[in-house]
Amino acid sequence: MSATSQVEVNRGGRAQRTSLIYVEDVHKYYDLGETKVHALRGISVEMQRGEFVAIMGASGSGKSTFMNLLGCLDKPSSGRYLLDGTDITRFNKRELAAIRNRKLGFVFQGFNLLSRTTALENVELPTLYARMPREERTLRARQALQMVGLGDRVDHFPSQLSGGQQQRVAIARALVNQPSILLADEPTGNLDSRTSVEIMEIFQKLNDEGLTILLVTHEHDIAQFAKRTIVFRDGRIRRDELVTNRPRAAEVLQAMPTLED
Ligand SMILES: Nc1ncnc2c1ncn2[C@@H]1O[C@H](COP(=O)(O)OP(=O)(O)O)[C@@H](O)[C@H]1O
Ligand SMILES: [Mg+2]
Repeated sequence: MSATSQVEVNRGGRAQRTSLIYVEDVHKYYDLGETKVHALRGISVEMQRGEFVAIMGASGSGKSTFMNLLGCLDKPSSGRYLLDGTDITRFNKRELAAIRNRKLGFVFQGFNLLSRTTALENVELPTLYARMPREERTLRARQALQMVGLGDRVDHFPSQLSGGQQQRVAIARALVNQPSILLADEPTGNLDSRTSVEIMEIFQKLNDEGLTILLVTHEHDIAQFAKRTIVFRDGRIRRDELVTNRPRAAEVLQAMPTLED
């Protein structure tokens, strides 16, 4: 059964309450004074726990706008969005920030690390909002860095790390508060092809362990590492399919030439 028909079947009251993500007829307008951009034009989609979804589509098709809504960084102009059963469309800024911090982890194309701060301190940052003893913060940050294979780089500054390593620090930072969903917008956009597959290896491992992942990418090869692909065009969903014969990033890496770190 295709993902699309599954969504059709699931569109009932019970599914709304059990879906991790339930989006119904969402529109997004950006108001630029004179003009209005209609960035999302009636999006309806559901995602369950444990999914690994790649959002694809040309530049300007609405991928980032959609991710920002799912990530509670912004709100839809109309329509409904239930995150883990909670309708967030009526939340104010403070409530949105709270739900982000509790449930969501973000990774961006540009890493966004603090340059004068070590890998460990970068990863510790999001824990500052949680009430937690200092030793517990450090322990969690170390564990998150170990999960992304950087247990031996905790005291390095971003400038002392490769692009791929910096992105792994950013992934560790996104994981440190143990989110339910990892949202990654073009996380491999600044990385070479081998390093990109290394990032996908980490994502597949995290997803195997139960983490729900939403990945925006315009690279078809990268999207194939996900379990499901959703293609946007002009603010609408054009395709929604399960990936067949999904490659394992760890195996793909073995067939790729290695680069010196
Ligand atoms: N903050 C914004 N203000 C006004 N228009 C925006 C803003 N963000 C995105 N847009 C417009 O919305 C549309 C979708 O953009 P975006 O979601 O960034 O697409 P993608 O990530 O697929 O490249 C584009 O036409 C873009 O110009
Ligand atoms: Mg974008």
